[in-house]
Amino acid sequence: MAGAFISFEGIDGSGKTTQARLLAEHLRALGLPVTLTREPGGSPGAEDIRRLVLEGDPDRWSPETEILLFTAARRDHLEKTIRPALGRNDILITDRFADSTRMYQGLRGSRDMVDRLHDLVIGVDPDLTFLIDIDPALGHSRAVARAGLEQRFEDMGLALQTAMRAGFLDLAARHPRFAVIDGAREASVVATDVLTRARAHLGV
Ligand code: TYD
Repeated sequence: MAGAFISFEGIDGSGKTTQARLLAEHLRALGLPVTLTREPGGSPGAEDIRRLVLEGDPDRWSPETEILLFTAARRDHLEKTIRPALGRNDILITDRFADSTRMYQGLRGSRDMVDRLHDLVIGVDPDLTFLIDIDPALGHSRAVARAGLEQRFEDMGLALQTAMRAGFLDLAARHPRFAVIDGAREASVVATDVLTRARAHLGV
């Protein structure tokens, strides 16, 4: 086994951050080299951009400006964190990647702009993507329970989360790299499901 690029995706409150962390722990316990990272962020420059996009008024940026900011952050993350980790043959696990831009910005602005910019400056997608799927009402209640500063997208409301859930499922149906996981179950049960699929993919 030599390196792998795995992402976690889902609507706000889906539990994917917990699942990304648990998968990293479980694979490390098997003696495998893992780099766990996240978007927006995952490198010092991209973490600076994270603060710009996640804090403040929901109307602070247009969807098109957001595409540029998230993609700039992703480019830095790719250069500074993802490519070096894959070069070491690590298993790179990222909490969100380009599918988030396809949904969060693509459904509110121009999906065509997202895709063209991705092809131009990113050009790669994970080889395995876990979509942690949940009912937006459940996701919303979880997200509200831990409300903090990084609220811009949660504040856009249930209608957007509902559209994004459908959009993520549609994306998953079109691309074989996706594994759709029922995220409404207890975290440890979800984690076992995720680990089984990851081990099958990695051949370990
Ligand atoms: P994240 O830290 O994953 O938040 P959570 O753990 O609450 O899911 O992501 C923060 C927000 O950024 C989330 O609401 C989704 C949004 N986002 C985009 O809109 N576009 C993107 O390309 C990415 C990576 C995230």
